[in-house]
Amino acid sequence: MEMARTKAGLNLLKTTGLGRLYEGDCLDVMRSVESGSVDLIFADPPFNLGKTYASGIDDAMDGARYLDWCESWLSECVRLLRDGGSLFLWNLPKWNLAMGGYLMRHLTFRHSIAVDFKCGMPVRGRLYPAHYSLLYFVKGPRPAIFHPDRLPLQCCRHCGGEVHDYGGKKSVMNPSGVSLSDVWTDISPVRHAKFKNREANALPLKLLDRVLSMGTDPGSVVLDPFGGSGTTYVAAELTGRRWIGMDLHAADAARRLSDMAVDRKLMSNLTNEKNTLFTDRDARKREKAGMIWPTEKALPNPN
Ligand SMILES: C[S@@+](CC[C@H](N)C(=O)[O-])C[C@H]1O[C@@H](n2cnc3c(N)ncnc32)[C@H](O)[C@@H]1O
Repeated sequence: MEMARTKAGLNLLKTTGLGRLYEGDCLDVMRSVESGSVDLIFADPPFNLGKTYASGIDDAMDGARYLDWCESWLSECVRLLRDGGSLFLWNLPKWNLAMGGYLMRHLTFRHSIAVDFKCGMPVRGRLYPAHYSLLYFVKGPRPAIFHPDRLPLQCCRHCGGEVHDYGGKKSVMNPSGVSLSDVWTDISPVRHAKFKNREANALPLKLLDRVLSMGTDPGSVVLDPFGGSGTTYVAAELTGRRWIGMDLHAADAARRLSDMAVDRKLMSNLTNEKNTLFTDRDARKREKAGMIWPTEKALPNPN
């Protein structure tokens, strides 16, 4: 893959109309970016679990050293965010507790989001770890942009009937869907080979779409210091956000950005399945079973 050297001595691996992808250390790249110029940062660093990365990093540091390193790039994140800009930090609850303490001193806490995400195996003598932590902070007192997606009602996959009982509240529910809470149970790990862009660690596009939709508008600037397979950059590309990307080993992200056909299709499905009370799929099942919601319009006859 062609690599260009910038005036600042950085390796620029790929550019698109909206973004640029660097191969290099996140601290070097972030130090080259202007203060207060970024609307949203999403960071999914290595979790210090002793994993092997293509970049050959040390993922088994002493805990204090790992947190010192995290503070060095987090302080860059704080510098880069514009007033009202958002930081989303994805990690194990254990590390996010400590990093949250640091961020509390520099940014304004918004939410600690628990994402139901069962990736590991039960551990003897411990509770089964079934969620990841997504911390959400903003620079300054309040977010400049905040429009969380609304979610469809959870329906039975067989008959389309709603899973929870909404009793007499049905007719007053927002037809655009249910309010997003700080517990996300509808994000599944990337498992199907068709959606795998690297061996491990790729986050689902749905997670990044939700984060970017909440804290940015088309044209906003998004930065992710740990690109991996490039999920953040692809979500930004497909939704018209500008982006700055980097990784010590950026070839996976560059390859994915060169052919986004699968991601484009997935993003179109994601867009159709939010900000509505019923997904098209559920609406069809419900119509077939004669279930009519008080505010629901019958679907047009396909013939
Ligand atoms: C957990 S993965 C990110 C996965 C990504 N969110 C995705 O959806 O594919 C962490 C990434 O950080 C990269 N990395 C580790 N240390 C880095 C550093 N100092 N600078 C830039 N990238 C680094 C690793 O190479 C790895 O690809």
